[in-house]
Amino acid sequence: MNADERRFIDLLVHSAGQLCVVPGPGPQRGTQLGTLNIVEDGAVAARDGIIIEVGPSSVLRGRYQAQIDIDAGGRSVLPGFVDPHTHIPWSGQRADEFEMRLQGASYLEIMAAGGGIMSTVRATREAPLEALVEENLPRLERMLDYGTTSAEAKTGYGLQTETELKQLEAMNLLNRRQPLELSCTFLPAHAVPSEFQGRTDDYVQHVIDDILPAGAAWMKENDLSLFCDVFCEEGVFDLEQTRRILTRAQEMGYRLKVHADEFAALGGTALAVALGAVSADHLVQTPPEDIEALGNGATVAVGLPGTPFGLGHHAYTPAQKILEAGGALALATDCNPGTCWCESMQMVIALACRYMGLTQAQALAAATLNAAHAIGRGSEIGSLEPGKQADILVLTEDDYRMLGYRFGVNLVETVIKRGRVVAGSQR
Ligand code: NIG
Ligand code: FE
Repeated sequence: MNADERRFIDLLVHSAGQLCVVPGPGPQRGTQLGTLNIVEDGAVAARDGIIIEVGPSSVLRGRYQAQIDIDAGGRSVLPGFVDPHTHIPWSGQRADEFEMRLQGASYLEIMAAGGGIMSTVRATREAPLEALVEENLPRLERMLDYGTTSAEAKTGYGLQTETELKQLEAMNLLNRRQPLELSCTFLPAHAVPSEFQGRTDDYVQHVIDDILPAGAAWMKENDLSLFCDVFCEEGVFDLEQTRRILTRAQEMGYRLKVHADEFAALGGTALAVALGAVSADHLVQTPPEDIEALGNGATVAVGLPGTPFGLGHHAYTPAQKILEAGGALALATDCNPGTCWCESMQMVIALACRYMGLTQAQALAAATLNAAHAIGRGSEIGSLEPGKQADILVLTEDDYRMLGYRFGVNLVETVIKRGRVVAGSQR
């Protein structure tokens, strides 16, 4: 075929030593996790931001002429990372609390004394909307530089209608101002605000009667769907309170997520599965019967190894047990100012390989395809397959297994979002 017969397209990334497809439809469950379908000397073609073909470079280069032609030069090419659990946007920092923890105070003790989440709530309530957006933009830019092309964002630093809605507005503005796409989660049940101290049931009622309906109205006005999440934890919201909030939220049209078993096993994971939640997250203390439930249900288990690492704890999500049960496992950063201020999914992969016992291939699939399923977007993003968004990474390395192995540096050379180069050296 000569050049004239080639079809014009927007983007061709070719000459990838290893092109990791990470095939769906997925999520990849149990022992399937880590199926990458590597194409050697591979290429990916895209038009209008969507992947149209994946195959050998020789075939695709003969078939297409692209406006943006990227020669991967033998390096590895993968789907963009999806980070399905962050607490962006927030205001301020808590380095003082980290120092207190280094000196022996526990996370839940600091929280019970009015610090912790409540300290970030005070800062976030005070921040004007525009300042909140400006403060969080660099976080998203850093995530993008490190290869995250889609993520989830949560409220939960308002704990009152006005500020919870301000956080949703900030997410909306952040989505308009930069290329990383945020899926939005409503988390008014992240902590009991100091105004309601000692009156958790009253706050739960306020969430149900006032804050959730305000979020549902926002959803309608903005024609967006929202997840509702609850921090089901000892000293925060118990299982019954969690059930009441989530059941009501589901009736109002929210899809569900749960923070479960981070410090104590309260039954949040089994509840998530029973309610058909899209994901159950943290799962450090999850008992065997709840792991069984994950194996039989549709809820994706999200491991957040940056959190125990950030807290200096030694217990991590029992990934192998979840996989043995046939569960679908994803990875996320949990990026937040309290337990884990880390924007990098590459760091999370490095931790998951060491402390959750995942291979690089398993961690990669958990950070892309399965992570996309953990935010209900598994049919649009998370793999290099025709019909999906052209969210593509070119690594600095010619072997994807360098991910997780090398850490603390950025192994992503080029980031492509919806067919456009948005970060990295080729921008
Ligand atoms: O996922 N567990 C609850 N929420 C966060 C911490 C939030 C904070 O400390 O600000 C977490 O670890
Ligand atoms: Fe979290």
